[in-house]
Amino acid sequence: MDDEFLDDGQPINPLGEDYVDFGLGEFLLTRPEWAHLAWDNDGKHRVPTLRNVDKRPGKEFSKAYMHNGVLKDLKDVVHFYNIRDVPGAGWAPPEVDRNISRELLTGKPLGNLELDEHAENTIVEFLKTLTDRNVKGR
Ligand code: HEM
Repeated sequence: MDDEFLDDGQPINPLGEDYVDFGLGEFLLTRPEWAHLAWDNDGKHRVPTLRNVDKRPGKEFSKAYMHNGVLKDLKDVVHFYNIRDVPGAGWAPPEVDRNISRELLTGKPLGNLELDEHAENTIVEFLKTLTDRNVKGR
């Protein structure tokens, strides 16, 4: 966002790569009546709809997923969910680790789904079926 500017000429992201997105918590801090809720909501982002998650104007058009666009491919998103909490998986540490769900599923952390390659690909194919076709006459 270094080359994006607000109407008054200020850069939209003066901190550049040092910017950390505190999500809902960051917004709550801007409202005095809700600021006391910020700490418990730092790093939280809205669960997006998956409808049209693969829709694009053409095959060559690159998509960008998650709140900061870090993942460019649905396969990467599913792979991330699959092995996020596997030790040594190689993901960068979270920028905001407060409030991450460390829930256990059948005794394993949430981000260790033990999906094999075929299962990951099957989920990606399913996600692609969520694309609306263009409907004529509406
Ligand atoms: C294997 C199961 C799952 C699949 C296939 C899936 C799929 C996705 C996809 C494709 C996105 C990116 C959407 C976009 O950027 O437009 C996404 C984001 C997100 N999902 Fe999931 N999801 C799964 C499980 C979950 C679970 C269990 C939760 C909550 C506990 C969750 C909560 C979220 C949230 C909060 C985001 C937004 C993250 C961000 O903006 O950084 N997802 N999911």
